[in-house]
Amino acid sequence: MVHSYLDHLECGRCHATYDADRVMHLCPACGGPLLARYDLEQARREMPAPSRDGTPGGGRADLWRYAPVLPIRDPAHRVTLGEGWTPVLPLGRIGDRLGLPHLYLKDEGQNPTGTFKARGAAVGVSRARELGVTDLALPTAGNAGGAWATYGARGGLRSHVVMPQDAPVIAQREVVAAGGELQLVPGLISDAGKVVAEKAEKEGWFDASTLKEPYRIEGEKTMGYELVEQLGRMPDVIIFPVGGGVGVIGIYKAWQEMQVLGWVDGERPPRLVAVQAEGCSPIVRAYERQAAESEFFTGAETLAAGIRVPKALGDFLVLAAIYDTGGTAVAVTDAEIVEAMRSLGREEGVMACPEGAAALAGAMKLARQGWLDRGQTIVLFNTGSGFKYPELLGS
Ligand SMILES: Cc1ncc(COP(=O)(O)O)c(C=O)c1O
Ligand SMILES: [Zn+2]
Repeated sequence: MVHSYLDHLECGRCHATYDADRVMHLCPACGGPLLARYDLEQARREMPAPSRDGTPGGGRADLWRYAPVLPIRDPAHRVTLGEGWTPVLPLGRIGDRLGLPHLYLKDEGQNPTGTFKARGAAVGVSRARELGVTDLALPTAGNAGGAWATYGARGGLRSHVVMPQDAPVIAQREVVAAGGELQLVPGLISDAGKVVAEKAEKEGWFDASTLKEPYRIEGEKTMGYELVEQLGRMPDVIIFPVGGGVGVIGIYKAWQEMQVLGWVDGERPPRLVAVQAEGCSPIVRAYERQAAESEFFTGAETLAAGIRVPKALGDFLVLAAIYDTGGTAVAVTDAEIVEAMRSLGREEGVMACPEGAAALAGAMKLARQGWLDRGQTIVLFNTGSGFKYPELLGS
């Protein structure tokens, strides 16, 4: 049987440690998010070496190839739809235009449920099921709700999803199609979060809000592991659209784990770049002040619904990842996002979601500023399929 080397949980803020085999949410001591810690020395001895040639070698072409560093103890509890091992596509035409010959896009739109949220949902739902959870509840900007409801259905768990009333229609319908309970609320994901906190407590549901349980990030981190196998090593720069920040925190966590596993010996850390929309850019503002945490962004507005998060619980972890890797944070306008969606479709045949297009818009801005250079290998993340946004596709 595949062994998980999950050892304990550690608070990302105060570093207190906890038993990993109980249902846990935030750190009881300080309210910080809990992170899964593994016996990586042991895992190092037993995990297959990374393929590094872009193929899955003899292993599975999904995220379960990383089972030793995932938290599911018994493979019987895996809830899967074939998530992970998404392609890394060269962006030749756009790269030429920007003077960046080594520009790539990892297309997370090719996941089940059409976004990278499938990774977090696959691992989060599997572990929740393993720990005996029957009812999941979460606030969402849209896509995470669709993913958790879908994986909930697959795993036989009930889901209760709360999203802003103007969340993308496909994400709303996805929850209903998967048999989840959908509640729409006025306002933003932060308002949905308050409803979930109250109801989960009253009804005894498992609150699966971003970083309020430790395992969604474990699914997201597999994006970092895949990059090493697909490119042969970590890229110099990774550009990711940031809302709650789990993608960036996950990739940074993968980097830290891969150092112990011996996957990235002698490499410099990839510079992690957070891209946000000008209409909702708390992390960018915090970065500009070189602050450790962000402030609540009032009046948040952008058509990139997934990155409309006015204050993230894990903001300090996103900022630490940026500072530690020599990365940066940039904001782009909605007009630049729409233009980048158009470029990706017309020049590269990639149907990107607006959040993924924001990553390209961010790269264009950094290229203009001279922050990126032609010698670097740069990976943009298209976090979802443009097909989840029919109202924007082809506009
Ligand atoms: C398509 C898409 N991209 C990016 C994000 C931002 O991800 P995170 O909240 O993990 O920063 C989201 C979140 O909903 C999303 O749906
Ligand atoms: Zn703590």
